[in-house]
Amino acid sequence: MKFIELAEQRCSIRGYKSAPVADELLNEILQAGNLAPTAKNLQPFHFIVVRDGDKLDQLATAYSRPFLREAPLVIVICTESAKGWTRDQHDGKNYAEVDAAIAIDHMTLAAADLGLGTCWIGAFDPIMVTAAMGLPDGIEPIAMLPVGYPSEPGREKTRKPLVELVRYDHW
Ligand SMILES: Cc1cc2nc3c(=O)[nH]c(=O)nc-3n(C[C@H](O)[C@H](O)[C@H](O)COP(=O)(O)O)c2cc1C
Repeated sequence: MKFIELAEQRCSIRGYKSAPVADELLNEILQAGNLAPTAKNLQPFHFIVVRDGDKLDQLATAYSRPFLREAPLVIVICTESAKGWTRDQHDGKNYAEVDAAIAIDHMTLAAADLGLGTCWIGAFDPIMVTAAMGLPDGIEPIAMLPVGYPSEPGREKTRKPLVELVRYDHW
C-alpha cells in the first residue's frame, strides 16, 4: 500500500470488538512508535500498555465516552519533559510533547496498516490517569490510545482544502 493510501485509510475508531490483539501485532505498533524521530534522538516518552481489566476500568472512569473500555488494550503515552530537548534560542521551548505526538502518529498508522483501530484520546482527566497509572513526578500523560479491532467504521474524513493551509514562499 502506498503511504498516502494508509494515511487516507487511518481514521479514529470509536467502537471496538473485544477480540484480543496478538503480542506480535502490539509489538509492531510499539516498535513503530520507537522508530519515530525525536528532537536530538532523546525519546522523552514512555508507553504504558494496559490490558489488566481493573486498570482499564480505572482509565475508563477518566474519560467520558464508553468506547475506551471496549478495546482490549489501551496504550497510555507519557512524556518526561526533563529528558526532552529544549530550544535555547529565545523561547526555551520543550519538544517532549512534539516528540510524543510523532510517536503516537507512527503507532496509529502502524495499527491501521495491521487492520487495527485506534483513537487518540486527549480529553481525559489527567489527575485520574496519573493516579491509575501510578505516574511519578515529572511523568505526564499525553494521550490514551485504545487499540483493537473495529466494530464500526470511522467517520467520513473531512479536511480543510489544502489551499486554506498551504502558502508558498511568504505568509
Ligand atoms: C491531540 C488529539 C486529541 C484528541 N482527543 C480525542 C478525544 O478525546 N476523543 C475522541 O473521540 N477523539 C479525539 N481525537 C481524535 C480527533 O477527533 C480526530 O483525529 C479528528 O476528528 C480527525 O478524524 P480522523 O482521526 O478520523 O481522521 C483527538 C485527536 C488528537 C490529534
